[in-house]
Amino acid sequence: MQTDYSKWYRAISARRSQRSYDFNRPVEPDLLEQMRQLCAEFRPFPSARAVLVKGSTDEVFRGLIGSYGRVKDARAFIAFVGDMDCPNVQEQVGYLGEGIILEAAAMGLATCWVGGFFRPDVAASLVGTRGNERVLAVTPVGYAAPAVTLEERAMCRFGLSHRRKPLSRMVSGLEEAKWPRWIRAALEAARLAPSAMNRQPWSFHVEPDSITVSVTGFPVDLVVSRRLDAGIAMLHIEVAALSHGVQGGWEYLENPQVARIVHCRRK
Ligand SMILES: Cc1cc2nc3c(=O)[nH]c(=O)nc-3n(C[C@H](O)[C@H](O)[C@H](O)COP(=O)(O)O)c2cc1C
Repeated sequence: MQTDYSKWYRAISARRSQRSYDFNRPVEPDLLEQMRQLCAEFRPFPSARAVLVKGSTDEVFRGLIGSYGRVKDARAFIAFVGDMDCPNVQEQVGYLGEGIILEAAAMGLATCWVGGFFRPDVAASLVGTRGNERVLAVTPVGYAAPAVTLEERAMCRFGLSHRRKPLSRMVSGLEEAKWPRWIRAALEAARLAPSAMNRQPWSFHVEPDSITVSVTGFPVDLVVSRRLDAGIAMLHIEVAALSHGVQGGWEYLENPQVARIVHCRRK
């Protein structure tokens, strides 16, 4: 599949999680068809896939007492499915899903990664999972509700939303003054990556021609794997590198490290 990475790169800073949708403004059929096709064609790994499901999403998004996790009035969702027999399934689903989310953002559509507060059994039966596949996360797709709802406001107040840690708290290795341009851009892009509960569970070790991504924090994942969050950051890193003319190759690593991207060649 031919991907316009510069479009995804621009979408990194524009994207925001959106939980309330405009029920009166369904997504145009041709845009939905483009999303469906992207889901079918963007298959960077055999063990991860995305499926667009149209129709009411009420059954899939289970409401919560309080504000976190309630998705309202979306008329379509995308399921991110992983084959649990693959050892790198979590980071691969994060990577794949974020590519699709950035494409949606570039098309003017709103989304929100939902890893905890949805019904995986309902999503799995709508998607038709096979063998050892599981729906690891979903996102609603649609146009944002015209008014900011109480829930969205509450998310901002609790600081769960867009606030990010400074790079100085996440990066080790090569001193900042010596970072090549692509590494600086990649780290800035990784910093903006969304993560469950906005926990930003990653650290980055920089060497002159590589970045190693590791997971940090509480070592037991209760609902959403930190490696899935790390996969999202990996996609941001790669997209930023490509947008700065650098093609990198990933190698997977053992916990708590996740993967290392090494500068292979200039695009
Ligand atoms: C893997 C993953 C799972 C998430 N699960 C939920 C969820 O269950 N409910 C929800 O409301 N938000 C969920 N979020 C959205 C995060 O809260 C959000 O990305 C984070 O607060 C950063 O805000 P931003 O996406 O607007 O930049 C999830 C995000 C990720 C990456």
